[in-house]
Order: sequence, then C-alpha cells, then structure tokens
Amino acid sequence: MKKKNKYNYQQKKKGQGKALTITLVISGILMTGLVAWIGVNDWSVEQSTKKFQEVIGLSAEDGEEAENPKEGSDSVEPPKVTVGGGDDSIEGEPDESAKEPEKPATTPDTPSDSGGYIEGQELPLEPTYVEGILIANKKYPLPATFAPGEDKEAREAFDQMAAEARLSGFNLTAFSTYRAFDYQVTLYERYVTRDGIEAADTYSARPGYSEHQTGLAFDIGEENFEKHWASSTFGDTEAGKWVAANAHRFGFIMRYPVGKEQVTGYMHEAWHFRYVGTTIAADIYKNKSTLEEYLEIQ
Ligand code: DAL
Ligand code: ZN
Repeated sequence: MKKKNKYNYQQKKKGQGKALTITLVISGILMTGLVAWIGVNDWSVEQSTKKFQEVIGLSAEDGEEAENPKEGSDSVEPPKVTVGGGDDSIEGEPDESAKEPEKPATTPDTPSDSGGYIEGQELPLEPTYVEGILIANKKYPLPATFAPGEDKEAREAFDQMAAEARLSGFNLTAFSTYRAFDYQVTLYERYVTRDGIEAADTYSARPGYSEHQTGLAFDIGEENFEKHWASSTFGDTEAGKWVAANAHRFGFIMRYPVGKEQVTGYMHEAWHFRYVGTTIAADIYKNKSTLEEYLEIQ
C-alpha cells in the first residue's frame, strides 16, 4: 500500500512536471511569436495590432469608424470607383458594380463658366508641354489620338513608393492609371446621364481633358480597402495620410487638393496623384500649390 502511494506520488509529480514543461514550451512559443510579429511590424505595437486585426478579418479602420462615426454620410463624396484591369480601370463606375457611385450632395466650389472649360474650344492636334511638363486640364486638352499608355517612369516611381509604404504596413495599389480617350467618352457620358453635366464636370474630365489620358495620373488606394477607393475617406486613412505626406519624394503630387477647386477645376480627390518628377513634386508639396500655379498657367 505504502509502495503504491509512493508510486502514485511519483507519478503525480511526474505529471505535474510534464504539465509545467508543456506550459513553459507553449508560453515560449507564444512569446517568440509575439516578439517576431512586433518585429516584422517595425517594432510598432500599434501597427502590429492593426495588422493582427486585419489578419483575423477585422479592419482597424472599421473599428475606428464604429467608434467615431464620420459626420454626415451625405457629405460631399466623390463617386465610388471601380477597379479594372489595364486600360479599363475606371473611376466612378456605376453599372458594373452593385454599388452605385454616390452623387455629390452639394455642388463643390468650381468655376461655373461652362464648368471651367473654354466654350467652343476644339481638341488640339498636339498635346501641350509647359516647361517640358505635359499638361492636361480644362484649358489644355489633349488630341483624341494621343494614346501613350501608362508611363514607365511613373510606374517605376509608384512601385518604389509602394515598396516603401509596405515597410510601414500599407499595401498600396494603383487602381486606375492610363485611360484611353474612348474610355473617357464612356465614363463621362455615364456620369452626365446619371448626375447631369454641371455635377459631372466637378469630378470627371470630359474626353480629351483627362489627365489619365497622359499615362501620368495614378489613382492610389490600399489593397483590400476598396471602400476607400476614389473616396474622400481615403484621405482619413493612415495609408491615405502616408501617401499625402510621402508621394512627393517619389515624384507624385496630389493633383486636386482641397481648397484649390477654383484653380484645378475639380473637387478635391484624395486618391488622384500625378507624376511630375521629384524636383517639381518637392516644390509643389513645399508650397502647398498646384501644377497650374507652379507652371503659372491659371
Ligand atoms: N477624375 C479626374 C478629374 C478625371 O476624370 O480625369
Ligand atoms: Zn484619377
């Protein structure tokens, strides 16, 4: 009997020792995993938490929005966008998605004279370069035949920016870049049908007037956060803030800044960036100006 008790005691002790070992091993693995996870997220606890939420399917932005619902869901919204492959990427696409782009609730402060266009102006035979910079706006259109495709230098610059953004935890994507003239015809007509000319002119370029036809305009968003694509809410996201603060280092400018509607002719677009090279981009960023102001072509 005594022997048996001793045996039981030893067995129990052995069992406890085993349990303790397992607990220590699991704790060790968890601690190593935690430290490694924070490590790959630039030793930022905030970023690590955000990434973890994303991995388990809970968007950090969703969380923030739930706590601080943005005021007025009917605030001025640019049309929702779409993605598309190649030349067919579109902005504010209404019919291929179940979600209709929203019509701006108020008419933004844009020129009222023919929507900022020069009445009767015809498309030119050649594109306009000012100080070597290709310009496409409401006063300087492009020939209908101008079809350079996506600019290679701009794409390389975007890829470099995306690689650096990744180090900060943002997976950027360019959901609309080069758009052919004919495609802009389709888009613009669609918006006019939906919202009327006056409203459409505040957010969509007429065919021949879109910077996307130059191949130098990149609509930027964050992968897996389509709800912020072509939306002013992109500017409120950490990724949108990162792009706004860093794009100039890679040669991109925010083309339609808030408060410059009278200069650019369009409502603010937090997602539309134009490649101009690092020297000009740094100047425009530093002076909080626009391409029109930089080139003095207002
Ligand atoms: N959304 C910009 C103005 C364009 O249509 O080119
Ligand atoms: Zn755009």
